[in-house]
Amino acid sequence: MTHFLDIHKTSPEDLRGMIDAARAMKDARNGRPRGALDDEQPLAGRMVALIFEKPSTRTRVSFDVGVRQMGGQTMVLSGSDMQLGHGETIADTARVLSRYVDLIMIRTFEEETLLEMAEYASVPVINGLTNRTHPCQIMADILTYEEHRGPIAGKKVVWSGDGNNVCASFLHAAGQFGFDMTFTGPKPLDPEAEWMDFARSKGVKAEIERDPFKAVEGADLVVTDTWVSMHDPESAKERRHNQLRGYQVNKDLMAHAKPDALFMHCLPAHRNDEVTSEIMDGPNSVIFDEAENRLHAQKAVMRWCLGV
Ligand code: CP
Repeated sequence: MTHFLDIHKTSPEDLRGMIDAARAMKDARNGRPRGALDDEQPLAGRMVALIFEKPSTRTRVSFDVGVRQMGGQTMVLSGSDMQLGHGETIADTARVLSRYVDLIMIRTFEEETLLEMAEYASVPVINGLTNRTHPCQIMADILTYEEHRGPIAGKKVVWSGDGNNVCASFLHAAGQFGFDMTFTGPKPLDPEAEWMDFARSKGVKAEIERDPFKAVEGADLVVTDTWVSMHDPESAKERRHNQLRGYQVNKDLMAHAKPDALFMHCLPAHRNDEVTSEIMDGPNSVIFDEAENRLHAQKAVMRWCLGV
């Protein structure tokens, strides 16, 4: 069973193959209407379940459109509307869905839910975000960087802010794609040590620098994310803002990076909190390319899972 559960669980060769395939599929669609079918229809006759236990705009729409462009069909399911949200086990849900659909994408809270779904499903399962990781986002981000600047291997990526689930998948990608990564943020919000160690184990630099201005020196790419994630309690908001104010990505901070450094944010953003509108809408920002590339990257991920 070929699940796409995380970047560190997928071989560098397979990851590279998916990025290259995504770029080729994107190029092949250049200028065509969004609703037009791809020339190839690798998902013809296939049914894909898209399960959301958390809100989503990009993941929901990009997976749905991607399946349709490749000739397949989707059903978008809300966790709370399923028996899954009312006591049925993940294992039983996985076994039942596997009798109806060819592929499952799930966005959920606990990583254990994803892993149990994958263990008991007899069809491939894709991680559409858990509290711990967000691999599909980072596949889109690698595609985006390379479209603009060429190979990401050997480059310096700086993450400023909360060392959250998106940061975790970036650290996995550092190891698998061979780039260095510096985290800058307050100590209580450091990324998990396990993820830093993973990157280092692959021979790249994974460093922590508390001073954001020092951190971004020589950066090829500066990345941030919302200061309060979906799984964080609302009560954390004020404390997070106080902790993270000094790590806002703004003109002063970007001035310390390389002049051609790109800026990324997975969105949704809170304008003028973690990043100023000036940077989001400025010449170094590629945030809407990132959003578009969710579509192309995930199409490649789905084809890889299904072997089509
Ligand atoms: N970046 C991202 O996953 O966006 P959504 O939460 O809108 O899916």
